[in-house]
Amino acid sequence: MSTTSLQQARSSSVCRFGCWALLICSLALTACGDGTNKAEEKILIKFPHVTAPGTPKGKAADRFRDLVHERLGDRVTVEVYPSGQLMNDDDSIDALAFGEVQMIAVSLSKFDRLTKKYQLFDLPFMFNNIEAVERFQSSPSGAALLTAMNDNGLTGLGFWHNGMKQFSGPEPMTTPAAAEGLKFRIMESDVLQAQILQVGGNPQKMALGEVYQALQTGAVDAQENTWSNIYSAKFYEVQPHITQSNHGYIGYLVLVNSGFWSSIPDDIRSELQSIMDETSAWANAQSTAINLEALEKIKASERSNVVTLTPEQIEEWRVAMRPVWTQFEEAIGSDIIEAAQQSSQ
Ligand code: LMR
Repeated sequence: MSTTSLQQARSSSVCRFGCWALLICSLALTACGDGTNKAEEKILIKFPHVTAPGTPKGKAADRFRDLVHERLGDRVTVEVYPSGQLMNDDDSIDALAFGEVQMIAVSLSKFDRLTKKYQLFDLPFMFNNIEAVERFQSSPSGAALLTAMNDNGLTGLGFWHNGMKQFSGPEPMTTPAAAEGLKFRIMESDVLQAQILQVGGNPQKMALGEVYQALQTGAVDAQENTWSNIYSAKFYEVQPHITQSNHGYIGYLVLVNSGFWSSIPDDIRSELQSIMDETSAWANAQSTAINLEALEKIKASERSNVVTLTPEQIEEWRVAMRPVWTQFEEAIGSDIIEAAQQSSQ
C-alpha cells in the first residue's frame, strides 16, 4: 500500500475504525519484505508516551531503552519521546497501527474503541491496591488479557503500573454529593464517563496534555489521576483540594504492531521480550514509591490541601459508584470480573 493511500485511509474515519486490521496486514507484509538480510537490518523502535520522564511510565520507558542499548548495541535503537511531545495517546494507537511508531504504553482506559476487555480496570473500587492488580495481572486470566487485541494486529508485551487514582477539585470530596454538578476531566473511557455520571458529575473526555489549562481556566472543575501525574503535570497548582480516594487504577499496556514484531529476527525478538519482562518487574516494583514521593512533594508545596477519607466515607463512595459494575458486566465478562475480585481478597 502506498504512502498516499495510507494517508487517505488514515484520514477516513470509517477506515480508522473499520479497516484497521486490513491496513495492519499490508504493513505486516511490507515489514516482512522478501526475508533477505533480515539479520543485518538495524531496528528502530520509536516509543512515544504522554507522561513526564520521572513518572512510573517515564522511568520504565527509559529503562527499557537503556537495557536494549546495553544488550543489543546498535542492532536495535529505542527512541523514547516523553510528555506527549510527539503525539497524544489516542493518535499513538493509530500511529502504531500505521507503522509510524513501533511501541506505545497507553493507559488501559483508552482502548475502549478496540476492545471492551480492559474496561475491567476502570470499574470503581475494582482493586483495593496495586498488589491486588499485580496478583490479577500475573494470574492466567489477567495474563490472557495481553492478547486481547491480537485480532486488531496488536500484541501486548507487558503491563506497567502507574498507581491508584485520587479525585481533585474546588472542594474536598469527602462524600459523593460533593461531585454533583462538577465538570470532571476523564480519560477516553465509557466506564469513567458512567462513573462520574453516577455521582451527578459532568464528565469530559480529554487528552492529558489539555488538562492543566482546562483546570486553570475553569473549562473543567475537577479531575481524577495518580499522585505522580497530579504532581508532574502540576495539577496540584490549580486544584485547591485533592482527596485520597484510591477509587481506581491507572496502568498501561505496552503494545507493538504484530506485523512489525514478527518481522524482527527470532533471536532479537526474544531478547527484546526478555528485556521487557525485566523492565516490567523493575518498574512495577517501584511504582508505588514513586507515587508516594509525589504525594509528599505535593504536601510540601502547600499549594493544595490533601484530604484523607475515613473508612466510612470510602464506603459511601464505593456504594454510590457500584451500579457502574452492573452496566458494564456483560461487555467485560462476569468471569473476568470474578477473577479480578479474587485477587483483591
Ligand atoms: C491520563 O490521560 O490522565 C493518563 O492516561 C496519563 C498516563 O498515561 O498516565
